Amino acid sequence: TEIYLRGLGGERPAVPVQLADLQEAARRTLGAAEFAYIAGGAGAERTLRANLAAFERVQLVPRMLSGTKERDLSVELLGQRLASPLLLAPIGVLESARPEADLAVARAAAAEQVPFVFSSQASVPMETCAAAMGAAPRWFQLYWSSDDEVTRSLIRRAEACGASALVLTLDTTLLGWRPRDLDLGSLPFLRGQGLAQYLSDPVFRSRLGQAMPLPSVRPPVTPQLLSTAAQLRAKGKTFGLSLKEMQRAAARFTATYSRPDLGWDDLDRLRGWTRLPIILKGVLHPDDAREAARRGVDGLIVSNHGGRQLDGAVASLDALPDVVAAVPGMPVLLDSGVRTGSDIAKALALGAQAVLLGRPYVYGLALGGEAGVRAVIQNLLAEFDLTLGLLGVGAAREVGPQHLR
Ligand code: FNR
Repeated sequence: TEIYLRGLGGERPAVPVQLADLQEAARRTLGAAEFAYIAGGAGAERTLRANLAAFERVQLVPRMLSGTKERDLSVELLGQRLASPLLLAPIGVLESARPEADLAVARAAAAEQVPFVFSSQASVPMETCAAAMGAAPRWFQLYWSSDDEVTRSLIRRAEACGASALVLTLDTTLLGWRPRDLDLGSLPFLRGQGLAQYLSDPVFRSRLGQAMPLPSVRPPVTPQLLSTAAQLRAKGKTFGLSLKEMQRAAARFTATYSRPDLGWDDLDRLRGWTRLPIILKGVLHPDDAREAARRGVDGLIVSNHGGRQLDGAVASLDALPDVVAAVPGMPVLLDSGVRTGSDIAKALALGAQAVLLGRPYVYGLALGGEAGVRAVIQNLLAEFDLTLGLLGVGAAREVGPQHLR
């Protein structure tokens, strides 16, 4: 009602409500390389498009005269009550959208009571984000480093930061083939972006910091420091390092951030390192889901990384029903392609417990910082609330296959 009434007074929204306009406005604000990195996908971007097309195909069938008035958006997940079935996906290199980066997103997420999944590839250390969030919910996304001690250190920090779940991303053991970035010659790591989580890690610094001539950004990474870094980059300088040094650092980093030979048995070790619920992100095959259940994993995120990794991979929404059917009782979340409130309802109807939002909040960040992210969340949840009402249900948890054609 509030959003509609603002419009009644002739007030334009803080950021465009229509997704296409939101993306276009962000494109105009951002540099070409930054926009390419955020918006782009892998290969011919078939999976990127398939994610959206899958949502186009699913049809909702509303019920009339249901006698419902109030809607309850909340859901129960892993023993936690979420205000709505929405989380902010882990997104690396957010400084490419705006200098305040993760810090602005953390504040917006806390204000809107939407859990924020801190990325391993964050531009602001998790401690700084957590400190800005009060008691609001946050999770941590892990890339399993080729150095186990770095992995364990990241997990210890996440626990100390009050993260209530650990999301292990499985689909990025190698970085995808991203033609937009390649054509612009703009791999963000090459410019020293998105490294604050690692550079603020004591174990990473002691074990790899010496070997890597990386920029010596010391925690806490403040918005001011980040904007200084952005200014330096704008002048073509990368923390005083030569291009060759940066390339060497990037190569070393790429060899360190992930463990390409990660296997199922490693999960058993992970279990021994933390008591946090473990959620696997990037599962698309029902057999992988079953194996995860056998290994005692606590939840799954059906995801293809927003079409940024394996081009030609099945759309997330298309993969969802088989995964859900394979692991009865296990919480299954979905991301990749969620753009509207009715998309959230479609994912729930197909068995997801909640969804994660990716690029749209980054566009909000680019356009309006914290306020922009808040506006994107508010619009999405307002539309989801209306969707429930128009479907004829009084609560998010009531959406099910009965609402699908
Ligand atoms: C991502 N994603 C991602 N995932 C992850 O586990 N760790 C990360 O650091 C990142 N980084 C990242 C950067 C950018 C610019 C994008 C767009 C995405 C993937 C992300 O968590 C999520 O899976 C997708 O963004 C969901 O797809 P949509 O909503 O963007 O279509």
